[in-house]
Amino acid sequence: MFAVYAEGFSTDDPLSGLVVGERPDPVAPKGWTTVTVKASSLNHHDLWSLRGVGLREESLPMILGCDAAGYDEDGNEVVVHAVISDPTWSGDETLDPRRSLLSERFQGTFADKVVVPRANVVPKPASLSFEEAACLPTAWLTAYRMLFTQGRLKPGDTVLVQGAGGGVATALIALAHAGGLRVYATSRDESKRDRALELGADAVFESNTRLPRKVDAVMETVGAATWSHSLRSLRPGGRIVISGATSGPNPDQTELNRIFFLQLEVIGSTMGTRSELASLVDLLDVSGVRPVIDRVLPMTEAREGFAAMAGGDVFGKVVFTR
Ligand SMILES: NC(=O)c1ccc[n+]([C@@H]2O[C@H](COP(=O)([O-])OP(=O)(O)OC[C@H]3O[C@@H](n4cnc5c(N)ncnc54)[C@H](OP(=O)(O)O)[C@@H]3O)[C@@H](O)[C@H]2O)c1
Repeated sequence: MFAVYAEGFSTDDPLSGLVVGERPDPVAPKGWTTVTVKASSLNHHDLWSLRGVGLREESLPMILGCDAAGYDEDGNEVVVHAVISDPTWSGDETLDPRRSLLSERFQGTFADKVVVPRANVVPKPASLSFEEAACLPTAWLTAYRMLFTQGRLKPGDTVLVQGAGGGVATALIALAHAGGLRVYATSRDESKRDRALELGADAVFESNTRLPRKVDAVMETVGAATWSHSLRSLRPGGRIVISGATSGPNPDQTELNRIFFLQLEVIGSTMGTRSELASLVDLLDVSGVRPVIDRVLPMTEAREGFAAMAGGDVFGKVVFTR
């Protein structure tokens, strides 16, 4: 079958290990199901994989992609949940120490077909296109859990979203706005700041500039480049929820004094549960909120999407179609 996969790693030139070609059809193990992929979307995770982060040499070649929407074996329209937990695990699957994401241990979604445990498909409502639904399993699910589960935010709270242009960040802005929050967003780029306002941000700021007021929580995916600003933007007792570190994991200053003196909470967040994905799908169905899609490409032109993400030249999600 057609597939987009990694056959090598490079820190400096991640696209050198990317292949657009053919892989054998997958065989669903007992209890798993085959999904025919109609659309999938790119995440920074796919670039990390090509850099050798989170993917082991012995797992190559590995079909990339965490996200997909398509048809199950009975012809139902479904969204794929990308977190694969151990069959013996019960409860929040993001806390399973043996969990993995599609494209880490099990083959990913940038292909004609993907196999997943039967419990890992969620019905797709007719109101969402396959392209829109394919944006949800990673970036949008991560944003949903950051805001409402880990961040414990409620209508009327004020939240800061760092790095407005990212796939997770655009989801954070749209979902926070839909949830009745006051939303501040930062970006290094003026046009991305303008787009963030259109998306529902109440005010936008150049990265690392002082805000007009302290916020209840910061949603952090940028990492080292914005960490200090995130801590300085919080009110006493505020929360920073972090799910990524695109600019690096080691800030120059960790500012431990500020964390204990202001009694700040630092909360990690990773992906989300199947039940959170189902709630997110319902939220979009009911509210009319839709993922921000930067571009839709045939999967055969996946390399163009990877290059745009590597160059930071993206606002929202890059979607691949079959
Ligand atoms: N833990 C999880 O479950 C999970 C799930 C999804 C994603 N993630 C992680 O979250 C991060 C974002 O993912 P994504 O898919 O949204 O990636 P993305 O679309 O590539 O987002 C990158 C954004 O980060 C900002 N940025 C990058 N370098 C920066 C710098 N030096 N200074 C300031 N801002 C910078 C940019 O914002 P501006 O250009 O607007 O300034 C850019 O739009 C990645 O590291 C990813 O691995 C984690």
